[in-house]
Amino acid sequence: MKINRVCILGGSGFVGHHLACRLARRGIQCRIPSRHPQRHRDLEVLPGVRPVAADIFDPASLKAQFSGCDAVINLVGILNESGDEGGFRRAHVELVDRVMEACKAAGVTRLLHMSALNADRERGPSRYLSTKGEGENHAHGHPEIRVTSFRPSVIFGPGDSFFNRFAELLGLVPAPFPLACPDARFAPVYVGDVADAFIRALADPATWGRRYDLCGPRIFTLRELVRYSADNLGLARPIIGLGDSASILQARILERLPGQPFSYDNYLSLQVDSLCRHNGLIELGIEPADVDSIVPLYLGARSKQGRLARLRRLT
Ligand SMILES: NC(=O)c1ccc[n+]([C@@H]2O[C@H](COP(=O)([O-])OP(=O)(O)OC[C@H]3O[C@@H](n4cnc5c(N)ncnc54)[C@H](OP(=O)(O)O)[C@@H]3O)[C@@H](O)[C@H]2O)c1
Repeated sequence: MKINRVCILGGSGFVGHHLACRLARRGIQCRIPSRHPQRHRDLEVLPGVRPVAADIFDPASLKAQFSGCDAVINLVGILNESGDEGGFRRAHVELVDRVMEACKAAGVTRLLHMSALNADRERGPSRYLSTKGEGENHAHGHPEIRVTSFRPSVIFGPGDSFFNRFAELLGLVPAPFPLACPDARFAPVYVGDVADAFIRALADPATWGRRYDLCGPRIFTLRELVRYSADNLGLARPIIGLGDSASILQARILERLPGQPFSYDNYLSLQVDSLCRHNGLIELGIEPADVDSIVPLYLGARSKQGRLARLRRLT
């Protein structure tokens, strides 16, 4: 199956940027519908990559975006519900239903779908994970469309909202850092490996109908990851792990702040470890990159202390 042109929904985001970059390098044209294409002009420097204004919830507009494409990639997802974006169900389930119908209407038979580790309609502990699970099931419910899903643990890399978010918060809080759910466990996976998994699957019929969990090579608790961020920034911050009630209280307070740095739904997602039983990256022939080989390159560059800490690690 030769792939020349794809449409990437959510392609203007963190994962989308890295994926579009890699697809462009392979000469694959990318159409990226966006609510705000003018904010993503940087994508236009990539050969064959075109951010375009579109309402992806409108069936006619979606069909027009998909027409002439050999495959569709759906990366749309939200971590928190907010008034202007609509809720989890709209982004994670209703959109998938519209994508499936638009694929059929436009004659597209290949879809790569981004889900999340622990996404499960019945057992997902949060609205994020249960709606992600429901959407994933809906995507796989159409025999005429060949679907592959990806279920990553937390994703890191330049531009991520995990290490960068903690770096920002660590910079803002001069005192001991109060951390909710400190013992939650993750296997952070490199965005370049996630993008490579999409690219390997794109033209490979062996991946049709498959759902791949994606993990990095090392397991960390949240406390260890925040400590790791602080070390890379050269910040000596004691981290105070919060118990359950204090974690919930923190979530209830922070979800009222602009940008919702942490929410009760995030707290619920953290009640299950984000770890792979079978790592799809290995099955796809990709050796997962370690945080140590990537994170210091962008996190350490954020501050003078971080650049010094990086030098100390290198010498
Ligand atoms: N980052 C992680 O650690 C991680 C881990 C596991 C799974 N995932 C999943 O991976 C996918 C990509 O994550 P990401 O970190 O790249 O996300 P991101 O940076 O937030 O990008 C998501 C993109 O989706 C579009 N979008 C979001 N909400 C929308 C809405 N209501 N209507 C229309 N478009 C909307 C946005 O495009 P415009 O604003 O241009 O319209 C945005 O650029 C998501 O599905 C996420 O759930 C991410």
